[in-house]
Formats: sequence, C-alpha cells, structure tokens
Amino acid sequence: MKIIPLLLFSVAVAALPAPTDLAKRASISKTDGTKFNIDGVTKYYAGTNSYWIPFLTNDADVDTIMSHLSTSGHKILRVWGFNDVKSSPGLGTVYFQSFSGSSATINTGANGLQRLDAVVKSAEKYGIKLIINFVNNWTDYGGMAAYFSACGVTSNAQWYAAAKCQTFYQTYIKAVISRYRTSTAIFAWELANEPRCQGCKTAVLTDWISKTSNYIRSLDTDHMITVGDEGFGLAGDGSYPYQFGEGNDWAANLALSNISFGTFHLYPSSWGVNNAWGNAWITAHAKICQQLKKPCLFEEYGVATDHCAVENVWQKTSLGAKDSGMAADLFWQLGDTIKSTGQLTSNDGNTIYYGSSDWKCIVDDHVKQIG
Ligand SMILES: *[C@@H]1O[C@H](CO)[C@@H](O)[C@H](O)[C@H]1NC(C)=O
Ligand SMILES: *[C@@H]1O[C@H](CO)[C@@H](O)[C@H](O)[C@H]1NC(C)=O
Repeated sequence: MKIIPLLLFSVAVAALPAPTDLAKRASISKTDGTKFNIDGVTKYYAGTNSYWIPFLTNDADVDTIMSHLSTSGHKILRVWGFNDVKSSPGLGTVYFQSFSGSSATINTGANGLQRLDAVVKSAEKYGIKLIINFVNNWTDYGGMAAYFSACGVTSNAQWYAAAKCQTFYQTYIKAVISRYRTSTAIFAWELANEPRCQGCKTAVLTDWISKTSNYIRSLDTDHMITVGDEGFGLAGDGSYPYQFGEGNDWAANLALSNISFGTFHLYPSSWGVNNAWGNAWITAHAKICQQLKKPCLFEEYGVATDHCAVENVWQKTSLGAKDSGMAADLFWQLGDTIKSTGQLTSNDGNTIYYGSSDWKCIVDDHVKQIG
C-alpha cells in the first residue's frame, strides 16, 4: 500500500490522486440504486462492527480476525478511525490524535495511524470492506469532548459549528483519507459515531453533515460517504427514537447529495421500546431510502440476551426489504479469540464470538438466508 505523505498545514483543498488502474477503480465499493455493489456484485450484504480492531498491536491477530470474517461470508466491517486523547499516553498505548493547549497532533507513529494501516492492509488481503469513521459523539476513545479545550468549546452542540474544532476535525479527516485514498478496502468514510445535538435545531447537524460530506467529496471522488447516526428523526409511531429532539432530521440528511447512503442503529433496551418494535423501525427507514433512491444500511443492532431469537428476526426483516430500500446489515459487535491475548475481552454484552452457537445463528444462518 502506498502511503501518501501528510500535508497537515495545506490550506487549499486539492483533490487527492485517484486510483489510476482501471481494474482497481472498478472494484471500489459503490451504490447501485438502493443496493451496494462490492467487487462488481450487486446484492444484499452482511457484516459486523469491530471498534477495537485498529487498537490491536499484532498484525497476525488482525489477519486471523479478517480471515474468520472472510471465510464466514462477511463483507463489510465497521471500525473506529479515531482514537483521541487529551494528553499523549505512553509509547505502548495506541492513540491517533492528541490535544494539548490549543493544538492537535496526529500520531502517525507505530502506536498511531500505522495500526489503522495494518487493518486496511489486512482487509485488502482478505477482501473485507471497511467503514472508517472520524470522531465519536460519546467520550469513548476521546470523542468530540477530547477537542473541547483545544478549540474553545464546552459542548458537542458548539463543536459542530465552531470553526476551530472543524478545522482540527477536517485536518484529521484529510490525514486519514490521504493514507487510503486509492484503497479498494474502503467501503465508506463515515462522519461520526452516533452524532447527536440534543435540543438543537436540526439545521445544526444538517449543515455540519453537508459541509463535512462536501469536504470529503472534494478530497475523494470515489469512495462512498455516510453519516453514522442512529437513525433518529423521521415519521413513525412518535416514540422517542422517531422524534427530532436529538437534533437529527434523517430524511433531510440523507437527501444531501454528497451522502451516499443512510445509516441507522437499533437498541430497544436503551431507547425504552421493545424488541418487536424494531421491525417497523427497519421498514420506516427502508421506505425513505426507497423514496430517495439511496441504499439503507442497518449499521448497528444488539441485545444483551437471546441474540439469536431477537436479532435473527431483525435480520430477516431487513433482508425481506432488500428490494425496497434495505442494502445490508452489520450486527454489534464482533468477538474473537486471538493468539496474543486469547479471547478478546471487549465484551459489552452484545458481543457475538466467532465459533459460538450465536455466531452460527447470527452469521452462518444469516449468510445462508442471503444466499
Ligand atoms: C452525545 O450527544 C448527546 C446530544 O448532544 C449528548 O446528550 C451526549 O452527552 C453526547 N455525548 C457526549 C459524551 O457528549
Ligand atoms: C459535493 O461536494 C463537491 C466537492 O466539494 C462539491 O463541488 C459539490 O457542490 C457538492 N454537492 C452539493 C450538492 O453541494
């Protein structure tokens, strides 16, 4: 993989070089109506989330995990492309960007973006396509809050519109995209994990999504771009997730022309709704995707117990809408066992371990259902 040198202080926006090789261009993942086309094949796809894979420090472990996904018939993997810290930790700790005083420093070292390089390289080797996102709404791995004191704001609501915060954010986006601009392992660039702006006018997020997606498009004319939101703010039964109070207007954001497809998540127990409610949540989004002629990605879903009984029903609902807006689903989240440390402990209760009976249901059976 070619590593393009960073141009941290460049001011003018210049498009980064596109893949020149025609075969390579043809295998860049893209939309095809309301479906995804991966390596030339348009169909419904399955995949998962692994926020933690870029934070592993052993390349062989990354390869093991990618090989498991590949032999299981998974195609799409969503990972954290951020790891923001307020002060730089020791050499052994992985982080991607640190803030101090009023400045930001991007860590391109062996414990920095080189770990994300290893994930992209391994994905290229195993035919896995990555969704890489750039910042977290939540404080896990830093999030917008890690930027606050350096860019002079005190809330996420201010972060979205503050020029200095957005300059740091765009500089970081450019640093990441520059490394993988021509990679066929990139499925899509994603603005954030679960962006919210509670109590804000929805225009705050729509403006930020518009500006950021236009910026990404100015750097990269090939890869898809998406938001990474939970799917709030749309017509439905009026329960909390359908409301606009977290600052999202789902259809307005998806209608933006540099947004390639829609994302939504599903966590009934955190949202005060029941598991069966999730089926209409899926089809409500599919309907908007169909109207706007863009694919819908059911990007995160999880429960703490009865994975198979609950999640396979949602998977079937999503797959059942494959000709009316639904394009793919990614469960939250992947678990595996690696040579260096044994069974990964990043188990938040929603984890499905490779080789478990839940894996057979949520992955093997689902992949067969897709065909
Ligand atoms: C994420 O966004 C919501 C809405 O703005 C906010 O309530 C929540 O506190 C945010 N998370 C963090 C860590 O700021
Ligand atoms: C999409 O982004 C490109 C690159 O920044 C920009 O030229 C174009 O105007 C954007 N599209 C819209 C509709 O804003």
